[in-house]
Amino acid sequence: MTDKKKILITGGAGFIGSHVVKRFVRNYPDYQIFNLDKLTYAGNLENLREIENLPYYTFIKGDIVDAEFMNGIFAEHQFDGVIHLAAESHVDRSITNPLEFIMTNIVGTTTLLNAAKNCWNGNMENKKFYHISTDEVFGSLGKEGFFTEKTAYDPRSPYSASKASSDHLVRAYFHTYKLPVVISNCSNNYGSYHFPEKLIPLTINNIKNNKPIPVYGKGENVRDWLFVEDHAVAIDLIFHKGKIGETYNIGGNNEWTNIDLVHLLCRIMDEKLGREPGTSAKLITFVTDRAGHDLRYAIDSSKLQNELGWAPSLQFEEGLEKTVDWYLANEEWLNDVTSGAYQKYYEKMYHKR
Ligand code: NAD
Ligand code: DAU
Repeated sequence: MTDKKKILITGGAGFIGSHVVKRFVRNYPDYQIFNLDKLTYAGNLENLREIENLPYYTFIKGDIVDAEFMNGIFAEHQFDGVIHLAAESHVDRSITNPLEFIMTNIVGTTTLLNAAKNCWNGNMENKKFYHISTDEVFGSLGKEGFFTEKTAYDPRSPYSASKASSDHLVRAYFHTYKLPVVISNCSNNYGSYHFPEKLIPLTINNIKNNKPIPVYGKGENVRDWLFVEDHAVAIDLIFHKGKIGETYNIGGNNEWTNIDLVHLLCRIMDEKLGREPGTSAKLITFVTDRAGHDLRYAIDSSKLQNELGWAPSLQFEEGLEKTVDWYLANEEWLNDVTSGAYQKYYEKMYHKR
């Protein structure tokens, strides 16, 4: 175990983080993977059940905002690399409670940067601090154009402003302290283990339970959807081959208005549930728009494609069908998440240790 590379992944009990942790644990048995997560409402250890007993995987419950704790675990484990996904991630929650986002996304990221800097001080060789960010930092597009790595930041929600701020801090640590950082900004992810407060899993869950599907405004906003496992592949590539100090945009080249996406989901669900065509669409309900709702996101990922050879692997319809199948086959997961029962899992699993 001593000469294994030690990788710290933060936020590994969340949606994207759990896919990344599983990919790294499965593909890199020569690494020791540490998953640090506070287990907020969005963190769910059930997402990691398949790998939880593997010897080269360690879960650590902790808060990235807690400087003493973070310095302590860096001193104890001497991590070689960090993949930082821990964040408050839901835009609507940031509108009702911005401070939580400031704490985790800005103060937490800075605390993590400090802990890495303190630990690696004087020896940055073969180290990497990889910060996972979002396309929302670039603001909102009109009908034309794409976000590139050179697009100026223009965040418009407390969530995106907190992520933009964390990106700036990561770059500041690169320039000021020579911390070996890399950043990626990704578009909307979808797939298994997605918390059902976000549009796609919420729509699937509501159709399943014959509940109204809330569509904000007129449903005209556009998002660029990427299958979560394709994001995990990009993260793997960027962690291993991305150039220090660089930024990479990741996207699906797959734009959908919310209303078209919801109609597509309704059609897939009608078929899967053996309902008459048109049944689920009757649940669509237009509701008050999100405050400051960004109109359109679209990513130009040509830098990542050309320099590191990444490309999305799935057509959207195929990925969406796979996702629907997963939610229908994992009713217990969905029920545990919607009832809150999943939060007892930590006690059951780790209390005894
Ligand atoms: P998520 O909300 O599903 O998971 C976040 C995880 O972070 C949870 O497990 C939570 O318990 C943990 N966490 C929160 N606060 C913490 C703290 N203070 N200390 C330690 N752990 C904490 O989020 P996600 O959708 O998986 O997003 C992961 C990352 O990817 C975020 O940084 C997000 O900004 C970014 N991102 C997400 C998307 C997307 O479509 N979901 C797209 C681009 C970028
Ligand atoms: O673009 C990347 C971002 O994608 C990530 O950084 C965020 O962490 C992630 O949550 C996601 O943000 P969005 O706000 O785009 O995702 P959400 O699923 O909340 O909403 C998608 C679109 O659907 C958006 O235009 C708002 C709309 N919407 C959302 C919900 C929850 C609805 O119309 N009804 C809803 O009930």
